[in-house]
Amino acid sequence: MEYLIERIQKLKEKRRAVFLVHNYQIPEVQEIADFIGDSLGLSEEARKTRAEVIVFCGVHFMAETAAILNPEKTVILPDLEAGCPMANMISVSELVEFKSRYPGLPVVCYVNTTAAVKAESDIACTSANAVEILKSLPEAEAIFVPDQYLGHHAGKIAGKRIQAWNGYCPTHVLIQPEDIDKARREHPGAEVLVHPECTPAVTGRADQVLSTGGMVKRVRESSPSEFILGTEVGILYRLRKENPGKLFFPANEKAVCPNMKKINLEKIAWSLEEMKNVVKVDPGIRERAYRTIDRMLKVKSEK
Ligand code: 13P
Ligand code: SF4
Repeated sequence: MEYLIERIQKLKEKRRAVFLVHNYQIPEVQEIADFIGDSLGLSEEARKTRAEVIVFCGVHFMAETAAILNPEKTVILPDLEAGCPMANMISVSELVEFKSRYPGLPVVCYVNTTAAVKAESDIACTSANAVEILKSLPEAEAIFVPDQYLGHHAGKIAGKRIQAWNGYCPTHVLIQPEDIDKARREHPGAEVLVHPECTPAVTGRADQVLSTGGMVKRVRESSPSEFILGTEVGILYRLRKENPGKLFFPANEKAVCPNMKKINLEKIAWSLEEMKNVVKVDPGIRERAYRTIDRMLKVKSEK
């Protein structure tokens, strides 16, 4: 493994590359990160980077977002098969038909969507800023795609009526309310942190509903020393490494996103060596998808 890491570091210098890594990646990949974070942090980093090549260790929509923000850069997803099933739950034609049922309503798309769906939407959001994005809209009602659970959760807090597409994350719905009840019984002093992609019965039992970046921050800044995590289990590696004095328990250890686990060191080395697995976005779609993402990033920077 040491040889492989050395080879990757040499290739990184040669290609002037940066490694952007999502919180759910396998430990070896987290270890080589230049920046590790949630979808919002990673898209902000993708926008700022001066590197010529972005190696995106996450899933396809994240790499595609980086490519939309950086048309002049090369964005590599070390395994092009690493998709997000939730992002594939709505197509452009389905969105167009859905929109026609609610004329005049703005369309908020979760960043977990294809570039083509972003191009048909008005503003993007992530799990970290969905409430703020909804609040930023003048309308009292909005279309939200594709995650029904994030849409309804954020809508409730923002005080907006939501017409949600019926998509969901197959990994987060594995976490059941009984898992939270059992974990609380086993660890009575622990704080329960849950991702908004979980079902309402699960988010309703949580102490905090947060994006993965929000969980990292909450753990760092809060006093409890035990936490139950209702999200993909990959985040536990980072939490344990950064907080050696605290204890972390997965709400359900079967909450594994198989696509996030498709990226490994061998694939990173090979794609950087061969400059393969480059993510490209059709220029016509890119321009419209860019406006949707840029509008989201502006809401944050205006704060
Ligand atoms: P975060 O933006 O909270 O990291 O979530 C991304 C994701 O895909 C969650 O399943
Ligand atoms: Fe998509 Fe769920 Fe995997 Fe996140 S955890 S990338 S939403 S399938």
